[in-house]
Amino acid sequence: MEGDAVVTRGEDTTWEEKRDLALRDLLVRRGERVIGFDEYLDIVLYNPEWGYYASGNAKIGWEGADFFTNCSLGPIFAEAIGRFVIGVWEAFGRPREFYFCEEGAHDGFFLRDLLSFFRREVEFWDALRVIVFEPWERLRRRQMERLVDFAGKVEWLGGVGEKVDVGVYFCNELLDALPFKLVELRDGGWFERCVEVFEDGGLGWCSRPIGEGLAEFLASYCGVERLGEGYLAAVRPSVREWARGRSGLFERGVILVCDYGYTRSSYYGAGRGKGLVRCYSRHRCDEEPFEKLGSKDITAHVDFTQVAEELEAAGWKIGGFADQYHFLVEVLRGWLLEKDGRVPVGEEAKRMRSLRMLVHPEIMGRSFCYLAAIRNWPRGRAVPGFGVDAEEEKVRNKLELCI
Ligand SMILES: C[S@@+](CC[C@H](N)C(=O)[O-])C[C@H]1O[C@@H](n2cnc3c(N)ncnc32)[C@H](O)[C@@H]1O
Repeated sequence: MEGDAVVTRGEDTTWEEKRDLALRDLLVRRGERVIGFDEYLDIVLYNPEWGYYASGNAKIGWEGADFFTNCSLGPIFAEAIGRFVIGVWEAFGRPREFYFCEEGAHDGFFLRDLLSFFRREVEFWDALRVIVFEPWERLRRRQMERLVDFAGKVEWLGGVGEKVDVGVYFCNELLDALPFKLVELRDGGWFERCVEVFEDGGLGWCSRPIGEGLAEFLASYCGVERLGEGYLAAVRPSVREWARGRSGLFERGVILVCDYGYTRSSYYGAGRGKGLVRCYSRHRCDEEPFEKLGSKDITAHVDFTQVAEELEAAGWKIGGFADQYHFLVEVLRGWLLEKDGRVPVGEEAKRMRSLRMLVHPEIMGRSFCYLAAIRNWPRGRAVPGFGVDAEEEKVRNKLELCI
């Protein structure tokens, strides 16, 4: 197909430039001059050959990477989630077969740390079944290599599988990576901010009146009256599809979502509306999504009120909502109390340093949140990690859900 390329390349183009040109080529070949920002993201992030995530180009971590996540901070994060999962297993009466499902496992580091932790708990280990939902071949291969010590324990599925009896579904920073649309307020009405694709592969912003589906979505999501002219918002109708797709996961169980974001009034607050589209490459953040296609992450915060509403509509009950500081301290309470009064050394000191970064309010403690959705949860048992953040009225108030 090289010879047919609409967007051409020279002899000495770098790999990064080739990727950029190939994606521009794909965009031009779609044959549509104007596309939604979500459709644009679908290509530049998720084209299997060239897209930033699907092609395996995304580098998460420290040196030479583009950005870091909770999972980059060493085993303490996986151990905290591990304690949560074992707490859920115990709450359900230690069933003989218990599932842990992860989506967005990326390079498998988190899962490796998690399984190393689980392996120490013999009874739980025997009950444990692990499923990774991974649609992209390259990432699946990478995860299999990383988890070679656990071959036979993990099953990979291209999408969500059939309903199983009981378990936990977990995703970290999956929802912020789902494609989103951009809308803006002009002359008192909403317009969709779109991408204009030129014949030579050039890209620019343009806008069009919003379609019916999006109008309905916006009517239920954000009131126009308190927002000013030129206000820009990111909206993710794709969360509905995500929640519906996970509605039939378990007969009994928990969906635990961790991501950075806000509840609705802050998400669509008058103070926001700028700097919504964030691009990450080599630990730098910019707002230029039309540069270096396929070599940077393009993301926006998550509206947790929307996630909770969609999960409720998909048949789940909201079981807890807390920021990272409160969730991690609560779930690691026993571990922290064991350390009380002792100066940690070696590996323990490393874990403590990572934990400080995870929970520090100015670093990651407040910007990341945990939402737990439950189904057939046993009466009288607390959802691990949430404490008072699991009290129904408090959770609903916090999430701005109707009581
Ligand atoms: C920001 S990264 C987070 C990776 C990892 N969970 C972490 O926290 O380090 C987002 C991940 O979500 C994955 N992803 C996005 N959409 C997905 C989908 N529909 N199904 C499965 N994975 C998806 C991407 O491939 C990528 O690995």
